[in-house]
Amino acid sequence: MYCVRKVTEDLYWVGANDRRLALFENIHPIPEGTSYNAYVLMDEKAVLVDTADWDVTRQFRENVEHVLNGRNLDYIIINHMEPDHSASLKLMRELYPDAVVLTTAKAVTMMKQYGLTDENVQVVKEGDTISFGKHEFTFYSAPMVHWPEVMVSYDKTDKVLFSADAFGSFGSLDGRLFADEVNYQRDWAEPARRYYTNIVGKYGPQVQKLLQKASGLDIGYICPLHGLVFRKAEDIAYIVEKYDKWSKYEPEEKGVLICYASMYGNTEEAAYMLAARLCDKGMSNVEVRDVSNTHVSYLISSAFKLSNIALLSVTYNNNLFPNMANFVDDMARLGLKNRKFAVVENGTWAPQAGSVIVKHLEEMNGMTLIDDKATITSSVNENTAEVIDKLAEEIIASMI
Ligand code: FEO
Repeated sequence: MYCVRKVTEDLYWVGANDRRLALFENIHPIPEGTSYNAYVLMDEKAVLVDTADWDVTRQFRENVEHVLNGRNLDYIIINHMEPDHSASLKLMRELYPDAVVLTTAKAVTMMKQYGLTDENVQVVKEGDTISFGKHEFTFYSAPMVHWPEVMVSYDKTDKVLFSADAFGSFGSLDGRLFADEVNYQRDWAEPARRYYTNIVGKYGPQVQKLLQKASGLDIGYICPLHGLVFRKAEDIAYIVEKYDKWSKYEPEEKGVLICYASMYGNTEEAAYMLAARLCDKGMSNVEVRDVSNTHVSYLISSAFKLSNIALLSVTYNNNLFPNMANFVDDMARLGLKNRKFAVVENGTWAPQAGSVIVKHLEEMNGMTLIDDKATITSSVNENTAEVIDKLAEEIIASMI
């Protein structure tokens, strides 16, 4: 049975939600599910904008058929060829063989790689325009937001930006479609940040280029491929501002992410001591996370949000604890920069973890170590309490 929503007079959301998928890209937990957004424009020509993941093809197909109401499909715009949006393209082309696919040259190469024909495909380039009747679309390339073939499409008539992965979010829509139907800042900013930072975070400079292009457009709606649609000026301004910060790797807030790797609770104790000393001194915007039971995607999201990061790790196999190593590696892989770090190592006979972290930080861009690494030997005592107190002071001083 169909389940669609109207975006504008002529535009329909024909996507679907998926709460059965545990891991997005088979790596990032999505306890609140995800949506795969696709849209149908009903003009003199009927136009499908992107498709959906194979997991939701039945729903997606029923939605498209309902909106078309017996009409043929004239065009399929493919803004992004990643399979979470293009897996149902094969079926759409079987159902509507006359529909012309509009996409980038790079996407055509990918279509063939994914076993699709390149027949009946029209390549569009930067700035190309096509009229579908009342609605005129312009296409803009957006390479590496998040794959190289990506483009975004802009409907000048209704001022709709189809933004591909940009401005998306984790989370099932659950009937809502618009950001103004939820408390976006309270409930959706975090999943949007976790989505952006882990999926697109590496490509900040490319996102900046897209923001620059978008700034020249009069945008009334942003229709992303995941998450909510933005239609109110204040919601559009909010998410654009967040994207500007995230893609420049600028922290959103002064605050401290304290991540610890602890085997028997001693390093953990130091983490809580550091948090308490920070709060004593007036910095209560602290997040304490155990890297052993917090998926790294959440750590990355918080690392993008906050100005300071404290890493406390036990030494393991004469090296860094594996979960902490994964977090540090992931920050490097995503190109995070401009953060201030405090490092505490623990070890019973040969503490090494701090030196390993410091070496990694030195290899990253714009990372500052705000003090020498601190060392705990087995458990915290009066001396280490003093060291941690001093560290808290220096962290706060670094924020001024
Ligand atoms: Fe939602 Fe890059 O695909």
